[in-house]
Amino acid sequence: MQGAIGVFDSGMGGLTVLKALRAELPDADFIYLGDTARLPYGTKTPETVRRYSEQAARLLVERGVESLVIACNTASGLALKHLQNVFAPLPLFGVVEPGAQAAAEVMDETGVLVLATESTVAGGAYQASLSAISPDIPIETRACPLWVTLAEQGITDGPLTQAIVQHDMREGGPNTVLLGCTHFPVFKSFLRQQYPHHRFVDSAATTASAVRDELKQVEGRGSTQFLVTDGTDRFGRVGSYFLGEEISDVELVDL
Ligand code: DGL
Repeated sequence: MQGAIGVFDSGMGGLTVLKALRAELPDADFIYLGDTARLPYGTKTPETVRRYSEQAARLLVERGVESLVIACNTASGLALKHLQNVFAPLPLFGVVEPGAQAAAEVMDETGVLVLATESTVAGGAYQASLSAISPDIPIETRACPLWVTLAEQGITDGPLTQAIVQHDMREGGPNTVLLGCTHFPVFKSFLRQQYPHHRFVDSAATTASAVRDELKQVEGRGSTQFLVTDGTDRFGRVGSYFLGEEISDVELVDL
């Protein structure tokens, strides 16, 4: 494949998925779109998430992408099938199934605790994906909307993070924690330090290897373009933290 791979998220959290994709496909060209003007998606209705996601996907298709990764868990859970119908035969990947797979591979008999946005939890996509792997997996879900705000502010440890994490990671529940939101992997080292007996997994690496396996040979220059719907400077600043490298050139787009 010659064309770029589109990567879409409601904001900058999807950069955690982009990072894993670039590691798997170093020669590929990527166009990343963060719908920062309309974040969060995680509190919106399924209809709105589908509409926003379709607009974002359309822009990327108009820019010439030849495949698309929906890096946003909320959009993957609520809009992936819709987008696959609208944009067929474009290869379109979500993060929910790979995330469920990653959790199922490492879980013990206590099952899986899914931490995600309100809309992802309410939409039931993780519950469905885990049950499809095995109907007996004990599953607990918790909506953690405040984690998105902390991550967007770049606050990934310290007393405020501790108080909010402690509230959501309350006693009991499964030992394997699936970070079912693009923003949550930035808390991984804090979580591992605070909860050494839990296993924390996310969908970035498993999504990236699923995309690599499916697309096989991807040729390009190893370039990445960044597009956002609001706040180019802020995206560059906070996004650099998510991506783990400097983001200097960000284009403002309108959906
Ligand atoms: N990208 C969203 C997700 O992975 C989190 C941020 C939001 O609510 O828009 O669910």
